[in-house]
Amino acid sequence: MATKLALVVTLFLVSCAVSKGRSLKFSTKQLDRYSFPPDFSFGVGSSAYQYEGAVAEGGRTQSIWDNFTHAYPERTNMDNGDIAVDFYHRYKDDIKLIKEMNMDTFRFSISWSRILPSGKLSDGVNNEGIQFYKNLIDEILKNGIKPFVTIYHWDIPQALEDEYGGFLSPRIM
Ligand SMILES: *[C@@H]1O[C@H](CO)[C@@H](O)[C@H](O)[C@H]1NC(C)=O
Repeated sequence: MATKLALVVTLFLVSCAVSKGRSLKFSTKQLDRYSFPPDFSFGVGSSAYQYEGAVAEGGRTQSIWDNFTHAYPERTNMDNGDIAVDFYHRYKDDIKLIKEMNMDTFRFSISWSRILPSGKLSDGVNNEGIQFYKNLIDEILKNGIKPFVTIYHWDIPQALEDEYGGFLSPRIM
């Protein structure tokens, strides 16, 4: 699991600390946490389609990535997000790993079609999806990690793509 997480989760330094006017001086000496400004956040992050899996569970509907990876497997090296790292079921283990790595933050994205299966609020919210993200955020906080949420990470519901072409239409607003 650790290897998988390391492979799939994009490890990045969240530069939200935005050192105002200060520039970081890198030298050949080894850097450690204390080489960075005190308000610098170290974090890991990923996006829903890349790691959740469980694409047909909990009331989730297809996003354009489910459709694309299955329609054109040769264009994605035969990979798809059907299972991914199974974060949907194993998020507690993964958050434990993030804590063990001594990270301050975890950035994740919300799968639009998991909380709004038709793509639209007017058609109702999928409570099972909402509950998943509630549980996830609770688990992150419980481990002393700060959640950063990306509302949309390129996984528009297929339903909206079919209805009006997704982001090609002003109706996306
Ligand atoms: C992709 O979406 C189109 C339009 O809804 C549908 O006709 C097609 O069967 C879907 N393809 C896959 C592989 O899900």
